[in-house]
Amino acid sequence: MITNSEEQIEDVSLDNTLRPQRLSEYVGQEKIRKNLQMFIDAAKKRGESIEHVLLYGPAGLGKTTLAHIIANEMGVNIKITSGPAIERVGDLGSILTNLQDGDVLFIDEIHRLNKLIEEVLYPAMEDYKLDVIIGKGPSARTLQLDLPKFTLIGATTRLGSLSNPLRNRFGAIHRLEFYNEEEMKKIISRSGKILGIELDESGSGEIARSSRKTPRVGNRIIKRVRDYAQINDHQMIDSVVARKALDMMDVDHLGLEPTDRFILETIIKKFGGGPVGISTIAAATSEEVETIEDVYEPFLIQLGFLTRTPRGRMVTDSGFLHMGLQPPVENQNKLL
Ligand SMILES: Nc1ncnc2c1ncn2[C@@H]1O[C@H](COP(=O)(O)OP(=O)(O)O)[C@@H](O)[C@H]1O
Ligand SMILES: [Mg+2]
Repeated sequence: MITNSEEQIEDVSLDNTLRPQRLSEYVGQEKIRKNLQMFIDAAKKRGESIEHVLLYGPAGLGKTTLAHIIANEMGVNIKITSGPAIERVGDLGSILTNLQDGDVLFIDEIHRLNKLIEEVLYPAMEDYKLDVIIGKGPSARTLQLDLPKFTLIGATTRLGSLSNPLRNRFGAIHRLEFYNEEEMKKIISRSGKILGIELDESGSGEIARSSRKTPRVGNRIIKRVRDYAQINDHQMIDSVVARKALDMMDVDHLGLEPTDRFILETIIKKFGGGPVGISTIAAATSEEVETIEDVYEPFLIQLGFLTRTPRGRMVTDSGFLHMGLQPPVENQNKLL
């Protein structure tokens, strides 16, 4: 799916080609950028590593990119792994002992770390110590190893799934925001240049508006639009060409695709607009709960088409209107 902001196989090389390397190239996220710049400058001046950083927010907004940038700016190595990839305590042990002073350890999907491994991480983060158990049974002993002064960068789409003790061990927690149209245009133009695509203002604007305020989606769309333009012999991508390509991909003016509309339609037609529980929505649309929560819902909420209530999800008045339907009079009252 073109607008699924989760990383897919085709993205890996595209992401690497288009990923900004420096903080100065990283568009938007003003607050995070300023804050990181300050911490990086200060740490460099003192000749120390920076504190552990947790980045959270929906997929495709630039968490992995930031982790790379932090390592680049600090001039250190980055070791990349993910929550589900660390299966045994020993896996984490060997990663940690192979780091060097100052190195960045990036753990993606850190909310999926298993509990046993998390507990090994606590003293490592706090005191740079690793407890190793040697031997088995009654003769087993614990040995404490000193670890290099590394920086842990964790990324997650679900801050709520992170245990408190883990969350509390991060010195800084940053939430990535959706990008506004201006920022998305900058990102699209930059990607266009790197990929050698001729794109005018109106073209980058059209793509920017249809990219779910999400850089990864924008980059994927621009690649598809280029293919469309090549096949149809358009030299320059303007809004008309971009729109035609987007229509072919079934992406509307706001960046919604058929699945988004199907989710809204299902809640409206089968459940009177809600409130309805997420697992019921998942069953009725044949989507995974996780996919709805991580991919579709954040953007529908951001657009103000969907809202979370204690009793479940509800389509808002603007959600009804976007689907070309009149919201029921009692709809607003349900929100109270
Ligand atoms: N702030 C940004 N400025 C420019 N490009 C960005 C920015 N954030 C993300 N991107 C682009 O989007 C792609 C996906 O970002 P990524 O960091 O992998 O997202 P996440 O890890 O949050 O899922 C990157 O390869 C990069 O090209
Ligand atoms: Mg990532």
